[in-house]
Amino acid sequence: MCGIIGYVGEENAVPIIVEGLKKLEYRGYDSAGVAVCGQNGFFDVIKQKGRLTALEARLSENPIAGNMGIGHTRWATHGEPSDTNSHPHVGSQNKIAVVHNGIIENYRQLKERLEQKGIAFASQTDSEVIAQLAEYYYSGDLLDTVIKVANALEGSYALGIMCLDEPDMLVAVKKDNPLIIGVSGHGQFIASDVPAVLKHTNKVCYLNDKEIAVLTKGGARFFNMDREPLSKTPETVTWDIDSAEKGGFEHFMLKEIMEQPKVLRDTIQSVHSGGNKEVIESLEAARFDKLVITACGSAYNAGVVAKYVFERLCRLSVEVELASEFRYKDAIISDKTLVILVSQSGETADTIAAMREAKAKGAFTLGIVNVVGSTIAKEAEVCLFTAAGPEIAVATTKVFSAQLVLLYILAVRFAAALGKMTEEAERGLSAEIAALPGKAEEILSRIDSIQKYASTCIGYKSIFFIGRNIDYAIALEGSLKLKEISYIHSEAYAGGELKHGPISLVEEEDTLVVALSNCGRLRGKIMSNVEQVVSRGAKVLLIGSCQDAGQSGIISYIGLPEVPELFSPSLSVIVMQLFSYYVAANKGLDIDKPRNLAKSVTVE
Ligand code: G6P
Repeated sequence: MCGIIGYVGEENAVPIIVEGLKKLEYRGYDSAGVAVCGQNGFFDVIKQKGRLTALEARLSENPIAGNMGIGHTRWATHGEPSDTNSHPHVGSQNKIAVVHNGIIENYRQLKERLEQKGIAFASQTDSEVIAQLAEYYYSGDLLDTVIKVANALEGSYALGIMCLDEPDMLVAVKKDNPLIIGVSGHGQFIASDVPAVLKHTNKVCYLNDKEIAVLTKGGARFFNMDREPLSKTPETVTWDIDSAEKGGFEHFMLKEIMEQPKVLRDTIQSVHSGGNKEVIESLEAARFDKLVITACGSAYNAGVVAKYVFERLCRLSVEVELASEFRYKDAIISDKTLVILVSQSGETADTIAAMREAKAKGAFTLGIVNVVGSTIAKEAEVCLFTAAGPEIAVATTKVFSAQLVLLYILAVRFAAALGKMTEEAERGLSAEIAALPGKAEEILSRIDSIQKYASTCIGYKSIFFIGRNIDYAIALEGSLKLKEISYIHSEAYAGGELKHGPISLVEEEDTLVVALSNCGRLRGKIMSNVEQVVSRGAKVLLIGSCQDAGQSGIISYIGLPEVPELFSPSLSVIVMQLFSYYVAANKGLDIDKPRNLAKSVTVE
């Protein structure tokens, strides 16, 4: 995920763009850049690896100015963070400049076609192909060119495009990535998010997919892909600048929870093209006699879920190890072991050490990482990327969901490759995975009832999470989420273990038990556990497919959309994230930055 901004008007675009980029830096901060149509009839472009402050330093050494410009803050997906890979990208004729947020899935094919025509590329990015293609198509009409380019692109994009031959006109188009148009007395703006323009205007128009905005100093015009004019009336934004940075959400955590359907969709899509596809296809399941998943925190919990999925589908032995333990235990691994490192940041010290230990012992290492260019992404033999964009809240939500879905996809592919599953079964499970984003949306549409229930739960001294089999695995994440942000004591237990100790902690009135019931054949067993805690005075929240739940006010019930039990963690976790969020919100806590925690743990 990146941030883009553009301005055309009476004022100097550069300070406006730099200020706007500051408001978009949460979207990525690997590098930043700005380009203006300079007074000399050329583009003036300054691009700099690193944070925006590095770009500001460059700009103060080499000031540039112009009444039209575009800017970008990058979260690297294709090509490492570097000056060259930074945006804006300018075509090799130096005629068209582009900023892009999104992923162009067919960039390889387009690039090859253009290279065959003698066009030389400067960067490793998917985005440069847009500038080169635009120059290739350009014949004196930028709007026409943008329509042709948009029709040729597959994937997601929000684009800001300038052409030297039409130096008063900024063109924008989008598909599957956000883009707003700001209108003001002194000029017009494009931006990935409202906060970037709020200092100048609160009048914005929202572009829909495949709609084009043509901005000039005097105003904004809109067109569809048939070049027919569209009418749009600017809306007035009422947010203050601070809250708008979170897209109107009170906390980044809630924003990120709500982004999950898109993140699931993007991650599922990511295995059909580009790097993720290549990696999955390159893994030879038959080469491994053992699989080890090692990680920390929530990423470890994703590994525990994956163990159940892999073992059930592939009949392959899977060990899940905390990275801090794995690194020192002299693990029994060999060149027949696949070691999977799961990490949002790719920089967690223990997970890096575990990876190096595994490599030293000859195992094959696969990273599942969110941050391109991170240590694990670079050092693991191969790496799959979660398509979640930058995650800002310390408590992970959307990246965890993206990790789960990549692990499901991998397990299904392995099972098929190992002959443990028919092609038909593989197709069936793949269709179930593809249906998860829609089901996640369904849960998020019931947010009000979860919020209402959570508001009644802030007084509990302890909240236990119980489940059996895969429900136990995801109960670990539910409990971690709750304790991280609400500071309420919480533990997760396998239902069958209750009678071996934890049940002695159940206290009348003070204890809530969150019970998960998604495993058909174990439903009776978990309901017996529920009876046991209810009879000792605990209140129960039941999550899952268990319509026979109703038992007065003691048992509350949140049903999930129908889903194969192996994939049910993707749905029950969203309920638990929202529950934890609203418990913490009702306690008035600093949800995005919980005490004593950090997003990326780079020390042992
Ligand atoms: C911290 C974060 C967790 C994360 C864990 C591992 O504890 O708060 O959300 O799961 O680190 O981090 P990683 O970047 O390796 O996923």
